[in-house]
Amino acid sequence: MQASQPNPKEEYTYAGQPGQDVPSFDAKRPLPARVQPKPRYVANLAMHRLVPMPTQTPGSPPVPPAPGITGVLEAMAKIGQTPPQWMPANLTRCHPDKFSDNFFVERRLNGFNPGKFKRVKHQPWQYIIRYDCTKYTVEEGGILPSLIEARFKLEDQALYLDSIEFTLNGETETHVPGDADWEWSKRLFRSAEFVFQEIQTHLARTHMNIGQYAIAYYRNIVNNPIRLLLEPHLDGLLNINALGASLIFGNTGFIPEASALSPQEVDNVLKDEIRRLSYRNWSPAGYALKDYVHNNNFDPAAKSVWEAFRDYVSKFFETHHAGIKTYWSEVEGMSRDLVTHSILNPELGTLAIANINDLKQLCIYMIFHCSFFHSWVNNKQYEDGGDIDYATIGLWDKHNPKYDPSAVAQKHAKQVTLLWTLSNVYYNPIMEFGSPDLKEHLWKRRESIQPGLPLESIMMSTNI
Ligand SMILES: [Fe+2]
Repeated sequence: MQASQPNPKEEYTYAGQPGQDVPSFDAKRPLPARVQPKPRYVANLAMHRLVPMPTQTPGSPPVPPAPGITGVLEAMAKIGQTPPQWMPANLTRCHPDKFSDNFFVERRLNGFNPGKFKRVKHQPWQYIIRYDCTKYTVEEGGILPSLIEARFKLEDQALYLDSIEFTLNGETETHVPGDADWEWSKRLFRSAEFVFQEIQTHLARTHMNIGQYAIAYYRNIVNNPIRLLLEPHLDGLLNINALGASLIFGNTGFIPEASALSPQEVDNVLKDEIRRLSYRNWSPAGYALKDYVHNNNFDPAAKSVWEAFRDYVSKFFETHHAGIKTYWSEVEGMSRDLVTHSILNPELGTLAIANINDLKQLCIYMIFHCSFFHSWVNNKQYEDGGDIDYATIGLWDKHNPKYDPSAVAQKHAKQVTLLWTLSNVYYNPIMEFGSPDLKEHLWKRRESIQPGLPLESIMMSTNI
């Protein structure tokens, strides 16, 4: 490092307390030049931005210039339409049978919250998906079951919805297809799933989980050649995570505003998830269905992409072995920062990078989550969440004295406009901006990847 260059440890400082708060870049500090959004990113975002961006406040970093689609909201207000009426159609609005049980199964397999099926024994059904909210307090007037479980039968290599059980206001009910509350049960499930999709899968697993590796990386990696491998996959992450601190979560964020969880409870769900996440011994195979299911497109795609990244990273390590070793002290610094700030449950070990195999595993894990996995869970948000009738992140009790129809309408407007923006910024597709070697690995596997996600929808990095 040259003397004139700033010390990365002074530029990239952590927010909060080590070991207590989710390790992340302090969003109150200015973004260092190395991670500021590039003009092309600003342009890409502006083309799809319908939601107001946070304004700069004293002591906070500058907000990037993003003029957005000016005048749209005003024009629609004049003709008396609300955003859920005039927003572009999504997948479910174009699906004639969107409330069918078959489509319910299809979206659990291939929609915005994949990889959640668990195999069970000694039951009339073989798989469940369960969301557990017992630890978290639901806001008054909000409807969110403390527990909800969808059960699926496996027959002839296909899954069929068997029943849904939920506990709401202390009462447990079980419903089966065709009974009076069957459609309500599915709506309740879709809403609970939406809450957990946004907090655990999207925000925690991709943005904040990888954010903890990113800040440790930027504080330490200066000359090590893994910079060539990793940095293109971190493009935009610290910027969007800093924006997300006010736009998505925090006191003014979309999730606490539109769902039945308070900002504090959203933070608790997020932290509880980060405590479970480690790069060690992780691969998508651990979460895949245990049986072949003919329309399961996520698991084969995830497995194939994982193998592509594994081969790509292995080749990179062979080529750059000497350089990685020469600058190993930087990796040791990254490892120290990771361990010091980690909130990982101690029973799961540590995030230390003890040797070159650990580093290789970490690189595959980071690239997988920055690109394929984020692209899946982010870009499919509008497919499900762009239709309030189909899925809403917050359900509200109309009989509650505090029920306010105009406030609920605003929550719905925020849901569809924000998800539109988040799902449509296609910055740095991997098949355009990836290295030739990376593109080749993915292209030759396209038949197993594409039924789940078109290659052109996979971005290099988590930047929105
Ligand atoms: Fe995202």
